[in-house]
Amino acid sequence: MKLRSFGRHGFNCSEIGFGAWAIGGAWGAQADTDSLAALHRALDLGCNFIDTAAGYGEGRSERLIAQVLRERATKGHAEKIFVATKTPPTAGLWPPSPYCVADERYPEAYLRENVAERLRNLGTDRLDLLQLHTWTRAWNRNPTPFKVLRALQREGKLGLIGVSTPEHDQNCVIDLMRGGWVDAVQVIYNLFEQEPAAELLDVAKECGVGIIVRVAFDEGSLTGKFTADTKFPPDDFRRGYFEGDRLARTVARAEQIRADLAGTNLTMAQAALKFVLAHPAVSTVIPGIRNVAQAEANCAVSDLPPLSAALLQKLRRHNWRRGFWYGGK
Ligand SMILES: NC(=O)c1ccc[n+]([C@@H]2O[C@H](COP(=O)([O-])OP(=O)(O)OC[C@H]3O[C@@H](n4cnc5c(N)ncnc54)[C@H](OP(=O)(O)O)[C@@H]3O)[C@@H](O)[C@H]2O)c1
Repeated sequence: MKLRSFGRHGFNCSEIGFGAWAIGGAWGAQADTDSLAALHRALDLGCNFIDTAAGYGEGRSERLIAQVLRERATKGHAEKIFVATKTPPTAGLWPPSPYCVADERYPEAYLRENVAERLRNLGTDRLDLLQLHTWTRAWNRNPTPFKVLRALQREGKLGLIGVSTPEHDQNCVIDLMRGGWVDAVQVIYNLFEQEPAAELLDVAKECGVGIIVRVAFDEGSLTGKFTADTKFPPDDFRRGYFEGDRLARTVARAEQIRADLAGTNLTMAQAALKFVLAHPAVSTVIPGIRNVAQAEANCAVSDLPPLSAALLQKLRRHNWRRGFWYGGK
C-alpha cells in the first residue's frame, strides 16, 4: 500500500482508505461479522484511513470501527489508524438551502454535543478529523460553524477540521480552503464527475488541504457490475439514486468505459480507483467496502502501476455533468 501526505498536516495516509457508510446501513442487508472482517482485512493490508459519519446507521458504523481498533490494540498492533467522521446539520433541508441560517443548522451547543457523541462512539478523547457533513456557499462569508470547530480544536477535542461537499455545488468549498477554514475536504471525484479537476483539486494542493475522494465507483456503477435490469432491495438507497431511467443511462455510459479499457488488463473497479489517484492533489480515495473480498480487491489497486497518459486522456472523455438540461438527456 502506497502512502501520500495528507495535505500539509504531517500525516501519511494510505492511497486506499475505507469508506464505512454501507457497514452502518442504508445499503440493504449487512452483517456486522462481514463488516468487522472487512475492516480488519483492510487494515492488515496497510489501509490506515477510515471515513465514517454520525449518520451511518446512527453510530453503528462508528461503533464497529471503535470495536476493531480496540481489538487490534489488545492484540498489540502499534499502527496509527486515522479515523475521519462527520457531524450533520440539525434536522431540516439536505443540502441546506441558500436561506438556511448557519447558526441554526450548526449551532454551537449542538456542535459541542454532537462532537461529544462522536468521541463516545469512537471510544477516544480526540477525533482525528471532524467534517461537517454538508454545507452551503450561503455561509461562506461568515462561516460561524468553523469558528466553533476551531475552538474545539484548540480545546484538544479535534485534530483536523473538514467539510464534505454538497453534490450540487462542490466548488462552494473553494473559498473555505482559500480562507484557511478547513484542513481537509471530502469531494466526489470519479470517471463521471470530473469537474473538481477544473479548480477545486488544484486549490486544495495550493492550500495544503487534504483531499478525500468519495464515491469513486459512482455508488457501484463504475465497477461495471450493474445491468439495466439490476434491482436494489427496498432498504438500499441505490433504489432511489438509480431510479427511473437513470440506471439504464448510467450502465450505457459505464459500458463505454469498459470498451476503452479493452487490452489494458484492468478491471473497471481498478481503473476507477487509479483514475482518481492519478490526480496529485488527492490524498486518499475511500471506496465503500463491505466484505473481505472488496477490501482485498480495492487495497490491491494501490500497488498497480499508474494509468498511462494515453489512457488517462481517453478516460477524461467520460466526464458527465448530470445537472444540465440544455444538452437534453
Ligand atoms: N456526503 C458524504 O459525505 C458522503 C456521501 C457518500 C459517501 N461518503 C463516503 O464515501 C465512501 C464511498 O462512497 P460510497 O460507499 O457511497 O460509494 P462507492 O465507493 O462509489 O461504492 C461503494 C460500493 O461499491 C461496491 N464495491 C466496493 N468495492 C467493490 C469492488 N472492488 N468491486 C465491485 N463492487 C465493489 C460495494 O457495494 P455492493 O457490494 O453492495 O455493490 C460498495 O458499498 C462512503 O462509504 C462514505 O464513507 C460520504
